[in-house]
Amino acid sequence: MSHLLLEKGVRPGVALIRLNRPESLNALNRALVSDLTQMLLELDQDSEIRAIVITGNERAFAAGADIKEMAEDSAIDMLLLDQFQKWDQIKRLKKPLIAAVSGYALGGGCELAMLCDMIIASETAQFGQPEIKIGVIPGAGGTQRLVRAIGKSRAMEYILTGRFFSARQAYEWGLVSRVVPVELYLEEALRLAEEIASMPPIAVQLAKQSILKSYEMSLEEGLHFERRNFYLLFATEDQKEGMQAFAEKRPPRWKGR
Ligand code: CAA
Repeated sequence: MSHLLLEKGVRPGVALIRLNRPESLNALNRALVSDLTQMLLELDQDSEIRAIVITGNERAFAAGADIKEMAEDSAIDMLLLDQFQKWDQIKRLKKPLIAAVSGYALGGGCELAMLCDMIIASETAQFGQPEIKIGVIPGAGGTQRLVRAIGKSRAMEYILTGRFFSARQAYEWGLVSRVVPVELYLEEALRLAEEIASMPPIAVQLAKQSILKSYEMSLEEGLHFERRNFYLLFATEDQKEGMQAFAEKRPPRWKGR
């Protein structure tokens, strides 16, 4: 799995995955996406891990799906392979995923960053969905998630022209939560992951699920879903501990139960 480098416990409770195909700007070929999905599913089950950071290198987070690999495929090949259903498995992960993006995040690379729950960008990051320039359109969520992140008119402009946009623009439009100098983007993402990993894990999981439901549900249904999760948390030992620790003016000791 040299195309993926995994460091578990890089910070307490944090796993770091590096995309590692620098010769092709981390183009996401099928083997890499398949192994990445498998790795993420395993980390999601690993009780030592509470937050996951995905990164590339300074030049590229990922420059998209591997164009050379799919160039000669037929529609039937694509349909039978149905490679993008892997992405649905990543969408269902319980643990928070942070993309630490520097350099190019294009096509499937931009879509992978958007599939994560948060994006921390370096000032050098460039985002885009340039598929139109090679005769296709985004296929791993770009037309849906970019609209929700930056609005219809901007998403239309960038997907129909294939132009790139900067980290600063991505920040101003709400696609990324933070932009930092290139020397700091990974550190900043790891620090955020460590902070989240120090929170009560069931509450983190239910907060993530509730936020993601806002993409799928009406406000009424979403509020209902949130309320159920809020009530459910009163069945956890961590809720009792958290509120007791507050009253006793001491730090809480989470059990993850
Ligand atoms: N697939 C396969 N190889 C890629 C690649 C990709 N998406 N992106 C870059 N590479 C390869 C290049 O072919 C090149 O390899 P060689 O040295 O063997 O020629 C190497 O990476 C370095 O790239 P460049 O020489 O092109 O570097 P550059 O600095 O001149 O340009 C770039 C950088 C603007 C990102 C340019 O590489 C580029 O436009 N890449 C393609 C971006 C793209 O179209 N992405 C969308 C892919 S389709 C998709 O993602 C569908 C989907 O929705 C999932």
